[in-house]
Amino acid sequence: MKINLKINGEKKVFDVSADEYLADTLRKNGYLSVRKGCDTGSCGACTVHFDGKAILSCVMLSLRADGHEITTIEGVTKKAEKIGKYLVDEGVDQCGYCSPGTIMSILYLEKCIENPTDEEILHFMNGNLCRCTGYVGQLRAIKKYLEGKK
Ligand code: FES
Ligand code: FES
Repeated sequence: MKINLKINGEKKVFDVSADEYLADTLRKNGYLSVRKGCDTGSCGACTVHFDGKAILSCVMLSLRADGHEITTIEGVTKKAEKIGKYLVDEGVDQCGYCSPGTIMSILYLEKCIENPTDEEILHFMNGNLCRCTGYVGQLRAIKKYLEGKK
């Protein structure tokens, strides 16, 4: 079955099967920033923006994405690099496997909450797991990034 998507501003047509999930469709078509850590909607590694909202692409059927707009980290490289520097400065980026999903969630946080409290940041980010570092450095990095934007 064919689906029409707009990915990172470009119109694309992909052939998908009825039981295929969006994370697999994206990876199959070269969007390798979309990682898979659990395939059950529990780790956040596959986070992308779907019509501007952060979603877990490993639990969304590709057919449901027909006609919608997807943003992966490949579509926001400048912003991602900026956030990445803050993560690196705080020692949060180790293996980097979780980073694309984490950055897509940080960008969505920035859009959703103005001047978030620590609790709001932690709550917002709690679906993005990182197995290398703790979350204290991540909190520092996010706060410094948001501060730097003021
Ligand atoms: S791979 Fe999608 S939430 Fe873990
Ligand atoms: S840096 Fe390795 S899982 Fe997050």
